[in-house]
Amino acid sequence: MIALAPLASSAQGDPERGKVIAYTCTGCHGIPFYKNVYPTYSVPKLGGQNQEYLVSALKAYREGTRRHATMQAQAATLSDQDILDVTAYFVSIGENGS
Ligand code: HEC
Repeated sequence: MIALAPLASSAQGDPERGKVIAYTCTGCHGIPFYKNVYPTYSVPKLGGQNQEYLVSALKAYREGTRRHATMQAQAATLSDQDILDVTAYFVSIGENGS
């Protein structure tokens, strides 16, 4: 019988799946001038950033080693695969994306 091999794409993440997860993120990370409307705070741009950096940032929020109440809440529910997929999506849209 054929065992189900891990998906070839799983090492880098699946940007198509990530796009669906990113739907919640772009509410904050895809806004003009990268400022939340109210209250006004800066939101970093994710598109075009290095994937390893984004993965480590999300894991740090999830584990609580990087403190930010909003992002800790966002990252808390993401699995390792979710993090790979969503960061693959943000890398795939490039610098001019959200
Ligand atoms: C409610 C608004 C909001 C939502 C929704 C949100 N973020 Fe964030 N995000 C922020 C803010 C504000 C920061 C800056 C926090 C800080 O200074 O550490 C941030 C920081 C980050 C960083 C670190 C970026 C850097 O340059 O260091 C990553 C990665 C990130 N968010 C990914 C995501 C992902 C993936 C999602 C969706 C699952 C998401 N965020 C949803 C507001 C949000």
